[in-house]
Amino acid sequence: MTKRLSSDQIVALFEQAGTQLYGGEAITQTEHALQAAWLAEQAGGDDNLVIACLLHDLGHMLFQQSDDELAEGKDDLHQFRVVPYLRGLLPPAVIETIRLHVDAKRYLCHHQPGYLAELSEASQLSLALQGGVMDDSQACAFIAQPQAGLAIALRRCDDAAKVCGLVVPPLTHYLNRLNSLIEKTAAT
Ligand SMILES: [Fe+2]
Ligand SMILES: [Fe+2]
Repeated sequence: MTKRLSSDQIVALFEQAGTQLYGGEAITQTEHALQAAWLAEQAGGDDNLVIACLLHDLGHMLFQQSDDELAEGKDDLHQFRVVPYLRGLLPPAVIETIRLHVDAKRYLCHHQPGYLAELSEASQLSLALQGGVMDDSQACAFIAQPQAGLAIALRRCDDAAKVCGLVVPPLTHYLNRLNSLIEKTAAT
């Protein structure tokens, strides 16, 4: 049986689970997603990047961790577990960009001096659970992937999308873009 979400189910997830705090940050999942999408849009990102930013942490909303799991520091593998829920709904490039967004952090820690130190405390803590800083061979393999560049662009929006109280457009602002990608995917 398909796990594929509908546009309405994505909106419902934002309304229900999006009110949870985003990891160890001081903003909600929905605030984080809307800030990331807005940063991508302001930077001139195309539909693929804007919607990947909007939905990159949907896995956190689908699989909310218990207090015990959080206390144990378990990695929820949200970047992988969301994939079956988006397959056939969105273009493969969007899904792959989302799948790679954690590895993009691990890559940037290896590739860009100072990047690790600039990450939020919560993001630095989760890094170790997610595999830590890439080594040379892991970084070469990562950047050779077709969607690596888009995943890095997503990551930059992700990292900056943690501003308390920032006013950005609501979810409805992105529904035309989302539904247009869904229609294009259905037609292929
Ligand atoms: Fe994430
Ligand atoms: Fe995120």
